[in-house]
Amino acid sequence: MTAPEPREAASSLQLCRIMRPDDANIMGNVHGGTILKMIEEAGCIIGTRHCNTLNGDRCMAALARVEKTEFLCPVFIGEVAHVTAEITHTSQHSLEVQVNVMAENILTGTKKLANKAALWYVPCSLKNVDKIMEVPPIKYASAEQAEEGRKRYEIQKTERLETKTRIKEVVSPPSHPERHTVGFSQSSLIHLVGPSDCTLHDCVHGGVTMKLMDEVAGIVAARHCNTNIVTASVDAINFHRKIKKGCVVTVTGRLTFVSNKSMEIEVIVDASPLMEEDKGKYQAVSAFFTFISLDKYNRAVPVPPLKIEGEEEQRSFEEGNARYLHNKAKRLAAKESLQ
Ligand code: COA
Repeated sequence: MTAPEPREAASSLQLCRIMRPDDANIMGNVHGGTILKMIEEAGCIIGTRHCNTLNGDRCMAALARVEKTEFLCPVFIGEVAHVTAEITHTSQHSLEVQVNVMAENILTGTKKLANKAALWYVPCSLKNVDKIMEVPPIKYASAEQAEEGRKRYEIQKTERLETKTRIKEVVSPPSHPERHTVGFSQSSLIHLVGPSDCTLHDCVHGGVTMKLMDEVAGIVAARHCNTNIVTASVDAINFHRKIKKGCVVTVTGRLTFVSNKSMEIEVIVDASPLMEEDKGKYQAVSAFFTFISLDKYNRAVPVPPLKIEGEEEQRSFEEGNARYLHNKAKRLAAKESLQ
């Protein structure tokens, strides 16, 4: 077979689709995991398209990292989600894609920004999934834009090297946990990775994993506060290892911290081959999700305090508190800079 001709690089993409009842969570709004999945699909398409504009092995862009993502407003069934993706930085072996999700009410014509995310992809050869390909450089609109992208690349590289070693053991919950303890709401979901979950590499799509993670975090949050809940944000997620078709994934969520009106849930994704579950088990992903408890008018309400048991839970709570204060200060600073 002769090598395909290099194609013209396109650095932006727009997708849109109407939100259907099967995109809903139990409250009837679009599931946070569905939004994460759409974001990842757009990033994967634009990343893969861009990385195949050079001669050489055909490749597929694998999701390596998602930066902290905020859910700015709910998306409703019947609205049209417009997903816009743009490649904003390229390094030698990775590329950054910025994705915006606008929700359009097609009856009134109103549009609102529902989500903004930055994702990093790494092109992996289709002949050999472990071979990482070169990324064709993009042309920046200005030297400042190139410099800002380079800074974001350096920051994420430092941050992910710091978190790489933070692999946590999943703790089993006690058999009769008391209400509002960590063990009471701890939840796990087991999923066998099938073909419909996978990319052309026969590895799980990042969006599929994020949807499962959001689902488990939502169950934990609802069990703790016994009300409707919504995803408010997801902290940066690093995808360290691929998960192959035929693997069993166990997604476990556990409360680490609660503030007056928010809950932080740590979600850990373990994977293992179906036949050798004990031998080949490894941790593929972990992340912190923040959920808010809502009343019947969709207003944020206080959540029950978390009953801490033991030193490990106390340490996690204090770390969660530090993340909460840091994120809150950042949000306030961003709001003030807009005024
Ligand atoms: N975030 C952003 N970029 C990352 C990254 C991360 N978490 N991990 C690696 N990279 C980038 C590096 O910066 C480097 O690019 P550069 O040379 O331009 O700086 C490039 O990837 C290769 O780095 P290297 O250390 O050689 O790669 P690796 O052995 O760590 O493999 C992946 C990188 C992404 C291929 C590997 O971690 C992986 O397979 N992850 C799972 C991907 C996946 O399955 N995604 C779907 C999730 S379910």
